[in-house]
Amino acid sequence: MKFQEINVKELKKNPFAMIGDEWMLITAEKEGKVNTMTASWGGIGIMWGKTVATAYIRPQRYTKEFVDSNEYFTLSFFGGEHKKAMGYLGSVSGKNEPEKISKTDLHVTSLEGQPTFEEATLVLICRKLYAQEMKEDCFLGMEEIKKWYPDKDYHTMYMAEIVKAYVQE
Ligand SMILES: Cc1cc2nc3c(=O)[nH]c(=O)nc-3n(C[C@H](O)[C@H](O)[C@H](O)COP(=O)(O)O)c2cc1C
Repeated sequence: MKFQEINVKELKKNPFAMIGDEWMLITAEKEGKVNTMTASWGGIGIMWGKTVATAYIRPQRYTKEFVDSNEYFTLSFFGGEHKKAMGYLGSVSGKNEPEKISKTDLHVTSLEGQPTFEEATLVLICRKLYAQEMKEDCFLGMEEIKKWYPDKDYHTMYMAEIVKAYVQE
């Protein structure tokens, strides 16, 4: 494991591929426990003059409790590798399977005191700035509501400052 800190503004990767195709793990710690979930929706950009990442988490995700209880979470990327593990972490809940991470080939490690994975190729250490639950009234059309929210389980949007970024080959 050889993580190197980078300036996130110098990241050369395509965010659409990184998030949408290769996926990421949202990971946080609560009371000494770590939980993680796969996400393929989100973004990186600039807000309030800061480099930020956004993540969207449905209310029933166990990881949400961890993200809500912590000032920080991490986004871990694997460059298209470990898709099987990410598929598993994205279909099994830590609520029902507390050992879900150890059922995969990924290993928890810590960077800047926050949980991530030894196998990650890029890690964004994120400090929460803003969280807001999406509301039906705020959608400007019915299309997304019909398609994505038949159970009305609207995502909470988290916008977080990317305080550090690490890569490893
Ligand atoms: C490819 C993929 C992408 C996903 N993206 C999201 C997402 O952006 N937001 C979300 O709330 N759930 C998303 N999920 C679902 C969660 O990862 C899944 O429900 C997971 O089991 C939650 O685990 P937890 O209950 O331990 O937090 C995704 C799942 C997969 C397989």
